[in-house]
Amino acid sequence: MKTSPKHLLTMEEFSTDQLLDLLALAAKIKKKPRKYKKALNGQCLAMIFEKSSTRTRVSFDVGMTQLGGKALFLNGNELQLGRGEPISDTAKVLSRYVQGIMIRTFAHKTVETLAKYSEVPVINGLTDSHHPCQVLADLQTILENYKKPKGLQLVYVGDGNNMAHSLMIGAAKTGMHCRIVCPKDYQPDAAILKIVKKEGEETGSRIEVTQRVQGSVKRADVVYTDVWTSMGQEAESKKRLNDFQGFQVNEKLMAEAPEAIFLHCLPAHRGEEVSAGVMDGKQSRVWDQAENRLHAQKALMVTLMGSGGKK
Ligand code: CP
Ligand code: NVA
Repeated sequence: MKTSPKHLLTMEEFSTDQLLDLLALAAKIKKKPRKYKKALNGQCLAMIFEKSSTRTRVSFDVGMTQLGGKALFLNGNELQLGRGEPISDTAKVLSRYVQGIMIRTFAHKTVETLAKYSEVPVINGLTDSHHPCQVLADLQTILENYKKPKGLQLVYVGDGNNMAHSLMIGAAKTGMHCRIVCPKDYQPDAAILKIVKKEGEETGSRIEVTQRVQGSVKRADVVYTDVWTSMGQEAESKKRLNDFQGFQVNEKLMAEAPEAIFLHCLPAHRGEEVSAGVMDGKQSRVWDQAENRLHAQKALMVTLMGSGGKK
């Protein structure tokens, strides 16, 4: 029997082969969803949200229903967690009721602690430093357009944030080149960069960071951007709006990469990180990308929770 990781916290839990297997399963599930309608029969996923969400919340909920299970939406503030009950105790208690826990929170450490004390799989639904579920859907979308990720050039223009980190990890694992184009003060985390560069040496993936926008997307296969102000950074939004001037993905920049597809994790701010013309233009695959959250996460849940969650 093939082994699979217990949790998805950063995607580093997955080997290249395990990640490619998961993506192959996502494609199968997308093609024949009814074949998997009992895959997680009677199982329950707890979903803890300490930040807002549209895609993550709805796609996990619908995904569990389509797999024969159920999802529980838990607002972090309405749990005892919001009144100071430790995350470790929350993990132990939830493990007695449910077969998987998905959490969207601030500090990445919270997800690590949850996983440490949980007896069932833990899925990171976004932290300040990682967003692996999004990148599963991104890789699925890239595969739909290019067949294989190895050797492709992805260029991410914007903040060196959670999306940038998870994209670098996804690229390094699949042999895709990844260039992060960001202002000097908004570079990706140095420790994560070091890890992915090393991993990239093994898979043939070149990971680089530059501040130069002009010419940066030439020969890109995928151009990606994300908001300039992430959840939890609202107080800095005015400064960020100013600091990111010149880093917008617009028609002028996309003209450097006429064959590339454009991706955005969403929600998008037209007129800030992306122009309306690019967002809604012919190179954009953002709606397929958003749809793939559903299929990729169903594959993820089948992979992690398929044996009832306990491994
Ligand atoms: N891309 C993404 O995670 O969207 P939500 O914040 O709506 O879940
Ligand atoms: N970087 C964004 C991603 C939203 C899906 C945020 O953290 O708000």
